[in-house]
This record gives sequence, structure tokens and C-alpha cells, in this order.
Amino acid sequence: MNKTVTILGFAGSLRKDSYNKSLLHAAAELAPKDARLEIFDLTGIPPFNQDLENKPPQKVKQFKEKIKAADAILIATPEYNYSIPGILKNAIDWASRPYGDNAFDGKPVAIMGASIGTLGTARAQYHLRQCFITLDMYPINKPEIMVNFAHEKIGENGELKDEKTKALIAKLLENLVNWTRKLKKK
Ligand code: FNR
Repeated sequence: MNKTVTILGFAGSLRKDSYNKSLLHAAAELAPKDARLEIFDLTGIPPFNQDLENKPPQKVKQFKEKIKAADAILIATPEYNYSIPGILKNAIDWASRPYGDNAFDGKPVAIMGASIGTLGTARAQYHLRQCFITLDMYPINKPEIMVNFAHEKIGENGELKDEKTKALIAKLLENLVNWTRKLKKK
């Protein structure tokens, strides 16, 4: 696989000044030369209704097409009440359906997260990892990127100021690209 590795990234936050969106924008800058990160905004995805899973709304169709076209996935998750936000779970549920048309099937995936609390989304990330089993995704284990006290590390304009976090994101993307190439060789 010589071509550029394409990564689709999305954040589990609709907030304009989301710290998790900031992590994704930093990741786009820090991606290895042989990879390209496209960011997808989950705004506009309605609540999942299984009655509609065979005729999903346009935004969901678009999301599924982008996932299928990507070589790998990058998710930036906030932590809401010790778990992943509903909008993230909702988007994942849509993209995994109908049965037999799970857009995530077999995709390599990396995760990161930012919160204003002390544990930096650790609890949410372990819940998200659990979903990868049924989604049949291949997650990167390390580095774990749990950005705590995000308000101190991300500036008013959304710029990531913390050099250690930048280095971790660069390493995560490097591992994701290598892992993707390994899986594609099979
Ligand atoms: C939070 N927040 C939060 N933080 C945390 O570390 N652990 C948690 O369990 C929660 N729970 C929680 C629930 C709800 C409903 C909200 C709205 C917020 C705070 C959270 O870290 C903060 O709002 C972040 O800014 C959310 O991420 P984005 O939107 O900046 O990407």
C-alpha cells in the first residue's frame, strides 16, 4: 500500500469551541506526510430511529460514505457523566446499521479525548473501546491521549498549546498509519 493513508476524524461534541474539535484540528497539522486527515462534523445527525435505518437521512448517508472511503478512523471524545456523549453514540449507532452494513467494519481506529476534569476522558474512552468489539474495529492501544484540564492546554482560538500533547498526537497518528498499512497487507 503505497498511497496516502486517508483518515476520517470526528469529535463527539457539537460545541463551537469544543476542545475535542481542537484536538482534531491539531491532529490534521501533526499527521505524518504519508497520511491525510479529513474532519467530519456530526452536527445535523438526528436521533437514531430503527424504523428509518434502511432509508437514513442524507447526513447519515454522507457520514457512512465518508467512513467507508477512509482507510482509518480517528475519534476525539469528550466525557459526559463518565461516559461518551449521546451524540457520539447516536452517530456510531446510525453508521453501524442496518445489520450487515456496518460502515466501521474492519476499520483501524485511534481515539483521544479532552476534558476540563482531572481524568481527561479516561472513563469515556474505555466505554468507547467497548463499542469497538461489536463494531469489529481494530483500535490502537497506545499512546492513550487523555487531555485533562483542557482549558489550560487549549487557547481561546482553539490552538493546542501543550507540547507534550502535540507529541502524543503525532505518535498516535504515526502508529495508526503503520497499523493501517499492516492490516491492508493481509
Ligand atoms: C461534562 N463534563 C465532564 N467532564 C469530565 O471530565 N467528566 C465528566 O463526567 C463530565 N460530565 C459532563 C457532562 C455534561 C452533560 C457536560 C455538558 C459536561 C465537562 C466536559 O469535560 C467539558 O464540558 C468539555 O468542554 C466537553 O468537551 P468539548 O465540548 O469541549 O469538546
